[in-house]
Amino acid sequence: MKLSENKATLSFSNGKPSVDFPVYSGSVGPDVIDIRKLYGETDMFTYDPGFLSTAACQSAITYIDGDKGELLYRGYPIDQLATKRDFMDICYLILNGDLPDAAQKIDFDAQVTNHTMVNEQLHFFMRGFRRDAHPMAVLTGLVGALSAFYHDSTDITNPRHRHISAIRLIAKMPTLVAMAYKYSKGQPFIYPQNSLSYTGNFLRMMFANPCEDYVVNPVVERALDRIFILHADHEQNASTSTVRLCGSSGTNPFAAIAAGVACLWGPAHGGANEACLNMLEHLQANGGIEKVGEFMEQVKDKNSGVRLMGFGHRVYKNYDPRAKLMQQTCKEVLKDLNLENDPLFKLAMEVERIALEDPYFVERKLYPNVDFYSGIVQRAIGIPTDLFTAIFSLARTVGWIAQWNEMLSDPEYKIGRPRQLYNGASFRDIK
Ligand code: ACO
Repeated sequence: MKLSENKATLSFSNGKPSVDFPVYSGSVGPDVIDIRKLYGETDMFTYDPGFLSTAACQSAITYIDGDKGELLYRGYPIDQLATKRDFMDICYLILNGDLPDAAQKIDFDAQVTNHTMVNEQLHFFMRGFRRDAHPMAVLTGLVGALSAFYHDSTDITNPRHRHISAIRLIAKMPTLVAMAYKYSKGQPFIYPQNSLSYTGNFLRMMFANPCEDYVVNPVVERALDRIFILHADHEQNASTSTVRLCGSSGTNPFAAIAAGVACLWGPAHGGANEACLNMLEHLQANGGIEKVGEFMEQVKDKNSGVRLMGFGHRVYKNYDPRAKLMQQTCKEVLKDLNLENDPLFKLAMEVERIALEDPYFVERKLYPNVDFYSGIVQRAIGIPTDLFTAIFSLARTVGWIAQWNEMLSDPEYKIGRPRQLYNGASFRDIK
């Protein structure tokens, strides 16, 4: 970051002397006021629940311009990455800062491919779960449990260990997600197949069985690969900030990523695609397109407690660029699978059309986010609704691990320790 010529001056109405703070500029986007000395000089904290105006770190990985609806990974716009590169390229880019050349790609693919199997003991660990456990409950446990199996890569001060952990996590997540699915179906786990692509291998581990050959459908493979690309990183969102905060204590990477998985589960974050599909299915079962208008009235009524899932975003105040790509992917998959007349897709398009014309959504700058169409694509592929957030976790793992690694390499890194405005009882004695 670069020290700006400007400074910020904080003045007080009670005659206390004013205090100057340095201002720093990044490469693009808003400047920041460095308030680290605020408490020391004024005996006051800032108050910013939800981090509405607080940059918690510096980062060179992902940039979002919420007003323009722009998303860049390492400077490259998401639409170019999603249409010209595959998920392995994106993982390499996010981890290393640049796209791989041909030799680097071969080497990186081989590293990931060679780590796709999980320790056999994990199969027994898995069997401790109920068959009807939510996949995110299973995944939170399985990812945390990796730290019990891979002791040789948990020295966080060793960059080589951090690299091996990154590769292990990226490589093993598809295996774990597919295991969670197979377990819920009572089917045998399918071992990874190294001759397939990252995404093709995942599809096979999900949908193959030992009795039949499984042929990967290239349209479905490309669509799922795109879902992975679109979810790979998203700067300091709730789960990434959770990974950073958890990792800032010096815990091992598997524990930090398990914390990210747990955070992503929530319906305001990664759980939104599941919630969005449930919402569309509920609407379809209760009148469909005819009832969209009535449903929208409920959404706008603050007392109803109903939100339009898949709409709105803390940062995007314009169309989420990922939603546009997802809508296009949705059309491609439905066409390939002869589901062009899918009533849920038609319903989603109608909901979107009405919302984008409604002053409630226009005034609040509420647009479809990535989750609005991703559920329809996944459902068409055959992925059950309760697995959607696990798929999101799989894709976001590279972002989490890259952000965690960046934090540990930052000379300004400290354990995260927010402060508070205490408004409970003051000192009192037990009578
Ligand atoms: N439906 C109806 N109204 C909404 C919605 C929605 N989906 N989203 C926001 N609003 C309204 C709020 O009621 C509020 O109205 P008000 O100003 O009259 O009080 C205004 O828009 C601003 O909303 P906030 O909740 O303050 O915005 P915030 O930035 O805190 O929330 C969030 C963002 C959580 C994503 C929200 O838009 C939401 O709940 N959306 C639905 C869930 C969803 O799709 N989440 C996925 C996010 S993307 C991701 O994690 C990959």
